[in-house]
Amino acid sequence: MAKITASVYTSHVPAIGAALDSGKAGEPYWQKVFSGYDYSKKWNKDNIPDVVFLIYNDHANAFSLSLIPTFALGTAESFPIADEGWGARPVPVVKGHPELASHIAQSLIQDDFDITIANELPVDHGLTVPMSLMFGEVDEWPCYVIPLHVNVVQYPVPSGARCFAMGKAIRRAVESFDQDLNVHIWGTGGMSHQLQGARAGLINEKWDNDFLDELIAEPEKLSKKPHLEYVEEAGSEGIELVMWLMARGAMNLEKEPIVKHRFYHVPASNTAVGHLILEDGI
Ligand code: DHB
Ligand code: FE
Repeated sequence: MAKITASVYTSHVPAIGAALDSGKAGEPYWQKVFSGYDYSKKWNKDNIPDVVFLIYNDHANAFSLSLIPTFALGTAESFPIADEGWGARPVPVVKGHPELASHIAQSLIQDDFDITIANELPVDHGLTVPMSLMFGEVDEWPCYVIPLHVNVVQYPVPSGARCFAMGKAIRRAVESFDQDLNVHIWGTGGMSHQLQGARAGLINEKWDNDFLDELIAEPEKLSKKPHLEYVEEAGSEGIELVMWLMARGAMNLEKEPIVKHRFYHVPASNTAVGHLILEDGI
């Protein structure tokens, strides 16, 4: 049986990828950000899963206003790195796990979560920046990745409650796959940030830290937070945090999770960087 054993949460600021790719990671500004991931890279190396189920949002690179899937599951053999306007990031191609992904597609749809199936999906910074933060600079990613895109860019966007419920369905799907695979689930994006309009640059440290506390201890309650509160308190792009609720919903909710790592730093580019590693409680 396949099992979800741990979850990882992290912001996906594109400038982090640019800093890495242009050799600026050692600069003091970026060092403060990367230092929060030193433990994570070690933990990850000691706990390499067979598959990462990676929840992220595309930022108008694979999709556009012509096609807006709320949830799109990557079922391909591999996923190319998207060119976001200045060439594709120089990171390895992402290898998928079509067998597990198509099983999850079947299970989710039969469980009434009507996802879109993506057999072609170039992946952008929403996916590659978390990979770089957790795996460092590598010639090849050390495990398979199943991407799940969530639309948090073009309204209407899904609620936290919907994402949390879908996380539970993802756990059921993984647990009904008959190969012994260790699966980690990652929720990416956030924390508070707003990239546009009169409130551009907004950061809300108190709200973010309350979110981290509740994500750990009271995720069911947190999932009921209305989407307007994300926008008002965490800025227009703070809504990316509903993806963290999906990853949290896929953990064992009967037990308290083990908090392996927690990090919060302001700012990286325009964003409050938040990061958590949770293992399933025993
Ligand atoms: C920034 C953050 C994001 O999550 C994103 O998708 C784009 C830009 C930023 O902080 O600059
Ligand atoms: Fe983003």
